[in-house]
Amino acid sequence: MSKLVTIYGGSGFVGRYIARRMAQRGWRVRVAVRRPNEAHFVRPYGVVGQVEPVMCNIRDDESVRLVMQGADAVVNCVGTFDARGKNNFDAVQHLGAERIARIAAELGVSRLVHLSAIGADANGASMYARSKGLGEDGILASVPGAVILRPSVVFGSEDAFFNRFGAMARLTPVIPLFGADTMFQPVYVDDVADAAAKAADGEVEGGIYELGGPDIATFRELIHEMLTVIRRRRLVVGFPLWMGRIMGRIFGALNFVTGGLAPAPITYDQALQLASDNVVSDDAKTFADLGITPTDMEAVLPSYLWMYRPDGQYNEITKSAERFKS
Ligand SMILES: NC(=O)c1ccc[n+]([C@@H]2O[C@H](COP(=O)([O-])OP(=O)(O)OC[C@H]3O[C@@H](n4cnc5c(N)ncnc54)[C@H](OP(=O)(O)O)[C@@H]3O)[C@@H](O)[C@H]2O)c1
Repeated sequence: MSKLVTIYGGSGFVGRYIARRMAQRGWRVRVAVRRPNEAHFVRPYGVVGQVEPVMCNIRDDESVRLVMQGADAVVNCVGTFDARGKNNFDAVQHLGAERIARIAAELGVSRLVHLSAIGADANGASMYARSKGLGEDGILASVPGAVILRPSVVFGSEDAFFNRFGAMARLTPVIPLFGADTMFQPVYVDDVADAAAKAADGEVEGGIYELGGPDIATFRELIHEMLTVIRRRRLVVGFPLWMGRIMGRIFGALNFVTGGLAPAPITYDQALQLASDNVVSDDAKTFADLGITPTDMEAVLPSYLWMYRPDGQYNEITKSAERFKS
């Protein structure tokens, strides 16, 4: 019988790539999520029955225990950007992570891989950073040999970063940015999945690894790079972070009173997060320690951002037809 991995959050952006990598390595994969009915797309990653979505809520002990039964390895990639509601930072990224590790220790599953984030710090300024830091502490308290992966911003066809700004560029001539000078080190989603799969397969020493790609750039430079790929000219206007914090408070209040109907382009917590650079620190263990060469953004961005070009997939044809116009 092949080995079994339970991937909490295995239908999410990063989780689905890990599920695919584990299936390719011959593992049986249990994708544990709240809405398994919306996760059927993971089934074809393996042969019939190899990859199965199952229902689980990491906010509940019994639910976590049930889907971990018989597992040889566990990967946790549940995360949230929600400061409020039941599935908030603390419930998911701190208590949920802690719960998974505690139950893994009870069931004797020593191979645990946890997705955290650069900047995780139990004493950090933002709730996001604190919940990630407390989550890491909870993981290591129960499973000291766990592998913790801290990516910078992750890119890939389903990402929430370039897709968000690509969609914005289609609608507006001006792109407002808070924290335009904050540095990022974008990392390709399948490289993160490669690292997680190696760790789940026992090929990696326990510890904390910070994952960043080959390019380090400011937020503003990344948006310009995206605009070049989508062949649009837009005015990128930077605003100071103090203004972001005020706007975050106002949008947060509006969002609250309208029951979530008014979208918040920036939250107070995001403005706090943007105050720190999101790059791999000098003394961290990295991709080099995992034997992985990270992928260039340039090689991947055009493969999915084409949809934001003025004529979408027909942009190349339109361009080549221009010389016949006169
Ligand atoms: N994406 C990035 O740029 C980035 C950067 C740094 C770190 N990270 C970290 O990497 C991890 C993966 O991120 P992602 O972008 O893949 O997140 P995502 O796309 O939002 O996926 C979250 C997954 O978790 C599941 N989930 C949410 N709440 C749950 C709960 N209470 N119980 C069980 N499952 C739950 C979701 O499915 P259901 O909704 O069906 O439950 C989904 O499968 C997170 O820890 C994130 O903080 C991501």
